[in-house]
Amino acid sequence: DEITGSRKDAHLDLCAKEEVQPVQNSTLFECVRLVHCAMPEMAVEDVDLSTPFLGKRLRAPVLITGMTGGTERAGKVNRDLALVAERHGVAFGVGSQRAMAESAARAASYQVRDVAPTVALLGNIGLYQAVQMGVDGVRRLADAIGADAMALHLNAGQELTQPEGDRDFRGGYPVVEALVKAFGDRLLVKETGCGIGPEVARRLVELGVRNIDVSGLGGTSWVRVEQLRATGMLAQLGAEYSSWGIPTAAATAAVRRAVGPEVRLVASGGLRTGLEMAKALAIGADVAGAALPLFRAQQEGGVEGADQALRVIIEGLRQALVLTGSKSCAELRRKPVVMTGELKDWLAAL
Ligand code: FNR
Repeated sequence: DEITGSRKDAHLDLCAKEEVQPVQNSTLFECVRLVHCAMPEMAVEDVDLSTPFLGKRLRAPVLITGMTGGTERAGKVNRDLALVAERHGVAFGVGSQRAMAESAARAASYQVRDVAPTVALLGNIGLYQAVQMGVDGVRRLADAIGADAMALHLNAGQELTQPEGDRDFRGGYPVVEALVKAFGDRLLVKETGCGIGPEVARRLVELGVRNIDVSGLGGTSWVRVEQLRATGMLAQLGAEYSSWGIPTAAATAAVRRAVGPEVRLVASGGLRTGLEMAKALAIGADVAGAALPLFRAQQEGGVEGADQALRVIIEGLRQALVLTGSKSCAELRRKPVVMTGELKDWLAAL
């Protein structure tokens, strides 16, 4: 488990400093335009951003998606970002709790309830770790941190670029089914930057999954992060696959078309501004998520740095509602949206 710990901090270093978002990768949100309303006939304070999620009510439809845990440095990231999420009434996820499952001494770095008593809190574990530890093991991880729900992450692309990564991706759906029985609508299935498409989403929903985070292409690339650590063939393959994935805008719109309104859909992967998040809501997301920008703001400016970054995001989101004449996220969803270029090509194929 020493390996898990040192890998965690290596990942944090790479994400803090290196180019982990290859420039050619795009969310395709540049292909989405909201339509300006010249006479909104409302006040900024009329905007109600509140949104139900995981049995709680968010004050803004934003999720700081799961990143880390397992080391002292990771614990500080979790506590700072959870505190900021609590202040703004948005949701927060810890990173993979694998390190915690391996060693109880690491549990403290995932504990945030003392600084974030009311936050909508997500635990986190990889699908293939869940296969190994079973439903009871996963339930213990969620209970140990007082989580409202558990995020199950999918990361086949990343695993293939890790020398110690999984090479066998069979048997996933039965595990999801067992977890749905245990967690009900307190289970969220997420990708980690390569996107969940409509076909996988439909199967997940058939099994009873009610929360999906598409986590698409366009932001942090975990293939790229692993490529930076890899040597030889894996470094070469990592370079080749750094831009692999379903762009976030395409995944969001296509999954929303494929599943019913009972599914809470999170859009994430490369969302960097409130305006981009508003576009994600307009094409079908209920909640918009981000990881890297808040992590970097925390690394550079601590709690106040992350607080400011989140404030700008939420104000940008609010402004998009005013300028489209929408008093709520539900109203925004009913407004016209222009979709152009490559995004239209994706949606024609998916
Ligand atoms: C992540 N991400 C992630 N996801 C997950 O489910 N478990 C994890 O342990 C981690 N770890 C992690 C660490 C760091 C430093 C980052 C930046 C990200 C993935 C994250 O939740 C998200 O899906 C992707 O990063 C895409 O969003 P952004 O970063 O482009 O906003």
